[in-house]
Amino acid sequence: MKSITFFETTKHEEQFLRKKFGKTVSVQFFSEKIQDVPVQKFAKSDVISVFIYSVVTKELLAKLKNLKLLATRSTGFNHINIKEAAKHGVTVMNVPYYGENTVAEHTFALILSLSRNIHKAYVRTLRNDFSLEGLQGSDLKGKTLGVIGGGSIGLHVIKMARGFGLKVIVYDVKQNHFLAETLDFTYVPLPELMQRSDIITLHCPSNQQTHHLLNMENIQNVKKGALFINTARGDLIETRALHYALNNGIFSGAGLDVFEGEELVKEENQMLTRNVPVEKLQALLQKNILLKMENVILTPHMAFDSIEAVERILETTVDNIFAFEQGMPKYVVR
Ligand code: NAI
Repeated sequence: MKSITFFETTKHEEQFLRKKFGKTVSVQFFSEKIQDVPVQKFAKSDVISVFIYSVVTKELLAKLKNLKLLATRSTGFNHINIKEAAKHGVTVMNVPYYGENTVAEHTFALILSLSRNIHKAYVRTLRNDFSLEGLQGSDLKGKTLGVIGGGSIGLHVIKMARGFGLKVIVYDVKQNHFLAETLDFTYVPLPELMQRSDIITLHCPSNQQTHHLLNMENIQNVKKGALFINTARGDLIETRALHYALNNGIFSGAGLDVFEGEELVKEENQMLTRNVPVEKLQALLQKNILLKMENVILTPHMAFDSIEAVERILETTVDNIFAFEQGMPKYVVR
């Protein structure tokens, strides 16, 4: 290992990482995404570490001749062309367990904001209006929570749900009946989950099988008036179906930490000067419509972002890089 380049780092992260790598290896940091830095500035790196807004494409990988390890400081890795990395002999490592409780806590922040109208009350009291009209909430106790993806985060959501007296049903392609018994939940097929859940929350990865898992064809299955929460990835639900469901009382509210096209939001003002594909412009337009709905809460992909979780991300990334160097990589993405 001779040269490591980190992208999308804050000053605080840079300080932490500099200390860990000392002077034994050349380390450079960019606060920008990988696609916004001229490739000649990092073409010689043998280790690169990115966060989720850096898109690692086939074309970019072809230019990184020395690259051996790509360490993403995230659980999700759909921003990296994994197949192409494998062809180039590049190992991809992620951080699978840093924020199960952190993301689960944010999931409940969104659920509770919607179920108790906290977001509406906040705006109202800012105007010195303390009326209760239109703010009546509904209890979670006794309701049914449908969890799509009962992995690390999903299981934390299930544990927390028990504390609220929610009944839990889960849809997952893999099932663990021991956990189902211990945590008192039932596995059901997706259509049944959609029909029975008062709240649907997504916790599966984004991939070819899960892209638009909820879509215009199946959205009618949802129990009328259900709440919809997405802290996983935006493309798990077809945005058109989300709009349709919100406009037609199928979803009574949505809490979204992620949405299709979110990677473009920070670049909105550059869009007019670039040749941007129509579907990307549509995604941005849809986000603007969602923002205007009072039963929708959007947060800026921040579910992972707690002090404790970010520390765990950095520690695991450093461990990943050293483990790879020692020929004992643990969290390899395939
Ligand atoms: P995990 O891998 O532990 O669990 C994912 C679960 O989804 C597994 O049980 C898996 O069997 C299931 N699954 C896979 N394909 C499926 C399908 N086709 N249908 C139904 N279930 C399926 O992952 P973890 O740690 O629980 O994270 C889940 C997702 O949350 C990540 O992929 C990531 O996209 C997202 N995430 C979002 C964050 C945020 O800040 N908003 C932070 C961290 C993760």
